[in-house]
Amino acid sequence: MEQFHPDIKDVLLSEDDIKKIVSCIGDQISTDYEGKNPLVIAVLRGAFIFTADLMRAIKTDCEVDFMAVSSYGDGVKSSGVVRIIKDLDTKIEGRDVIIAEDILDSGLTLSYLIKALGARHPKSIEIAAFLVKDIEGKKPAVTPRYVGAHVPDAFVVGYGLDYAEHYRNLPYIGVLKPEVYS
Ligand code: PRP
Repeated sequence: MEQFHPDIKDVLLSEDDIKKIVSCIGDQISTDYEGKNPLVIAVLRGAFIFTADLMRAIKTDCEVDFMAVSSYGDGVKSSGVVRIIKDLDTKIEGRDVIIAEDILDSGLTLSYLIKALGARHPKSIEIAAFLVKDIEGKKPAVTPRYVGAHVPDAFVVGYGLDYAEHYRNLPYIGVLKPEVYS
């Protein structure tokens, strides 16, 4: 039997599941952006692994750039106030932009980013969210065009997602044992 990290309670998405999901998003983007050369923006740090895989799954011309943002707050719950720590090197005016995110929770980070990037007059902005967290009674502040998978309202880590900077290197999406963070 495969051994998972001892801090992981359940595995929600295996490496195989992830491959299939990313390939599926890559196919959709390849069709939708044929001949368009979109700029894929990875929101660091969480999205770095998803973006690397997604770029390889997109079969048409595309470019990549990186942004780092930080939300003010306790680091567990998103506050909605976002600070740009690292800005793009690429001018996005007139460009088709796809923001790649590892997880959409409240959607406040992306809502802020869309406003900030929208002010630079790109031709289009869409979101590719690897995961969307389903929270009962709450609707995320933004609607991604591409969604990999929905996950329950649990502390998920791996495939770029962290808890206190740990677990980003796990090749699967797992649920953290509550005793690790409580
Ligand atoms: C995570 C994730 C998203 C954001 C989602 O980032 O990567 O950017 O939270 O939350 P929201 O939809 O409620 O705004 P985090 O601030 O943990 O930084 P990281 O990417 O460096 O892990």
